[in-house]
Amino acid sequence: MAKKTVLVSGGAGYIGSHVTVELINAGYDVVVADNMSNCDMTCFEGVKKITGRDDIPFELMDCCDTAKVQDLFGRYKIDAVIHFAAFKAVGESVAQPIKYYRNNLDSFLNILDASIAHGGCNVLFSSSATVYGETDKLPVTEESPRQSATSPYGNTKQICEDILRDVIKASAAYGTEVNAGASAQGPVKGIALRYFNPIGAHPSALIGELPRGVPNNLVPFITQTAIGKRACLSIFGNDYPTPDGTCLRDYIDIVDLAKAHVAAVSRMLDGKMKKDYEIFNVGTGRPVSVSELVNAFEKVNGLKLNYKYVDRRPGDVVAIWADTRLANEELGWKAERTVEETLASAWAWEKHIAGIE
Ligand code: UD1
Repeated sequence: MAKKTVLVSGGAGYIGSHVTVELINAGYDVVVADNMSNCDMTCFEGVKKITGRDDIPFELMDCCDTAKVQDLFGRYKIDAVIHFAAFKAVGESVAQPIKYYRNNLDSFLNILDASIAHGGCNVLFSSSATVYGETDKLPVTEESPRQSATSPYGNTKQICEDILRDVIKASAAYGTEVNAGASAQGPVKGIALRYFNPIGAHPSALIGELPRGVPNNLVPFITQTAIGKRACLSIFGNDYPTPDGTCLRDYIDIVDLAKAHVAAVSRMLDGKMKKDYEIFNVGTGRPVSVSELVNAFEKVNGLKLNYKYVDRRPGDVVAIWADTRLANEELGWKAERTVEETLASAWAWEKHIAGIE
């Protein structure tokens, strides 16, 4: 049987590079498209080394360029798309909403448009647990209500989920009376994966997270503090109503997360979906506090971290973690790596990019 081809938009980035590795390991052909706006070639080179594949097609392009996306779909027979190409800094999105709406929505619309025009496609959208907002009904299931987003970034995730849902619904009606006038062609099916907090790096330490400037997220800030790039980690708030006063999150290992994508793509391509649009939480189901994470990092890597408690960060939710039963049962996927293994991999990666090991 011919190999299926998966387009990974944003495939040179942190999540995209790990997903590319796992797709290739699972026997898929991958086309990577990236505009390199928030990464360099480090991870793509790492992907080639890990997989031993020097021939992975790489398209330097911006998915906001409608003609280029159409052209790409004309040149490859794409069976599924995983769409990562998006901006993701919460604070920046508050300061520059137009930049976020334009980039995150235009690129996804172009991907969907081209998918339809070229005979239909299976689309996996990279969503976020941020859509659940603040809730005291924990853990959250896929049925938990979405709350209005607290940032333009979060809003783009909600809007893109809705766009995907509507496009799939319309595509199911092509050719029928309801949608007789539509010029679109192929059927679209899709899955939105709602990630909790992806952390860590590939066990080879050849790919990982490469934040530009001061990291917004916790784990890159921890590893950069440990290596001496940052003087001190600020823990945002220790007066939350949680056991140790710091926020609770569901930290999901990046390789486990990548494997969830392979399971979701296979489900779409093997015709196993129960509905044309499905949503899955991708987390561990295990809440971990910021203090616990810092302590675990120190313990597993045998070092002391310089940190202090400061005020709460505006916009942070107290606690969120996933009910993972749906993903476990339907995708046949489960998070496997322990938080200690993941934190060791994050540290190995930080040392690798510092040229220490
Ligand atoms: C954030 C975004 C989420 C996005 C995710 C991407 C919100 C509210 N959050 O999640 O949408 O998908 O990043 O990875 O939209 N912390 C510190 N010190 C630091 C950094 C973080 O104490 O220097 C704490 C935070 O207060 C939080 C926890 O660590 O309690 C995790 O923070 P972070 O890694 O930024 O992720 P989230 O805010 O959960």
